[in-house]
Amino acid sequence: MEQEKKKKMQTDSSPTMATGNSSYNYANNSSAQRKMTDVMKPRIEELIANKLDLGRLAANDNTFRVADLGCSIGPNTFLNVQHIVEQVRHNKYQTMISTHSAASSSSLPEFHVFFNDQINNDFNALFRSLPLERDYFAAGVPGSFHTRLFPKSFLHIVHSASSAHWLSRVPPEVVDRGSPAWNRGMIHYGESPKPVEDAYRAQFRKDMGGFLKARSEELASGGMLVLVFPGVPDGMLQSETQISSVINCVNLSILDLVRQGVLEEDQLDNFNFPVYFPHPWEMRELVEENQSFSSIELEVVDPEESTWLQGGVGLREWAVAIRAAMEELFARHFGGGEILDKIFDGASQKIAEHAEVIMNTKCKELPLLYVALQRK
Ligand SMILES: C[S@@+](CC[C@H](N)C(=O)[O-])C[C@H]1O[C@@H](n2cnc3c(N)ncnc32)[C@H](O)[C@@H]1O
Repeated sequence: MEQEKKKKMQTDSSPTMATGNSSYNYANNSSAQRKMTDVMKPRIEELIANKLDLGRLAANDNTFRVADLGCSIGPNTFLNVQHIVEQVRHNKYQTMISTHSAASSSSLPEFHVFFNDQINNDFNALFRSLPLERDYFAAGVPGSFHTRLFPKSFLHIVHSASSAHWLSRVPPEVVDRGSPAWNRGMIHYGESPKPVEDAYRAQFRKDMGGFLKARSEELASGGMLVLVFPGVPDGMLQSETQISSVINCVNLSILDLVRQGVLEEDQLDNFNFPVYFPHPWEMRELVEENQSFSSIELEVVDPEESTWLQGGVGLREWAVAIRAAMEELFARHFGGGEILDKIFDGASQKIAEHAEVIMNTKCKELPLLYVALQRK
């Protein structure tokens, strides 16, 4: 029984952000993710203007449905969905009304927005900060985006920022002492032997495969799926990215605490980040295997465009960003309060000590993968 509980703790990731009450809460510590919103804006405008075919979409009812998957507690999710709603309403429907005499303003649809995250997301905090002035109906949809969340052919645009790289669980092999993929003393795969990376990649294939299958069923024909999340440019290794060096600093901080006897070695061995940063070729392969999407845009955003370290966010803030994104996960494994301060204060210090190495990695910044797909 104890054994079972321990195993579950090791592999059940179900991540959520620091809750609305924590001083590291996501709402105040999500400027890195906000950058992704900025990256998406012009791309989404172009996509809606050129690819969205209203005739095909709104044939049966007059409600336009948008979902944001992995919404957290805001504020980025509100900016993202508002932008989508505005683009569809003003740049698509109103243009149609002004150019077609048969169309009238009664052809304007109502908008229904669905905010999705894991069941343990702080939905109360999310709903408390819903913009009062919004021009859409809002609903929360709890559950994992790796499975079905909506009825068939229900949605018109699905958006997800900074979330699709989360795995449904830590690959079980990496916490299995008998496996060649046992990730002893490490918390991610960037600096680990190849079998560890292979185990992460296999888990991502399974999860993203499930994600695409579910979306292909939920999207109406002609509907769009738009994703942005961290990835690694083709031909590059995860260890050559800046994010990998930063995660390594968190790892070194935990290792120091093990050496000081504050944490047990077992606690380190059993803890792994449940995120995977895919290459574009891996995403392309999965989309092609799925066969439900007709148009595919897939690019690594130019780091110049997605740069955030120079945009006022300092190197040491990486540790705060990781804490805000993963606080609950750390707290569940290592315990909360003081121990978290020790881990992240130590990580900030390591980041400062390794600043030169971090700033000189082959792949600067946080490379972002932008994926836009249209349902056949
Ligand atoms: C870094 S936050 C991004 C929040 C927001 N989209 C933004 O751009 O600021 C990642 C979110 O993805 C959610 N998430 C991770 N795995 C998920 C899953 N399987 N299903 C639904 N949400 C998930 C996490 O709980 C978290 O709230």
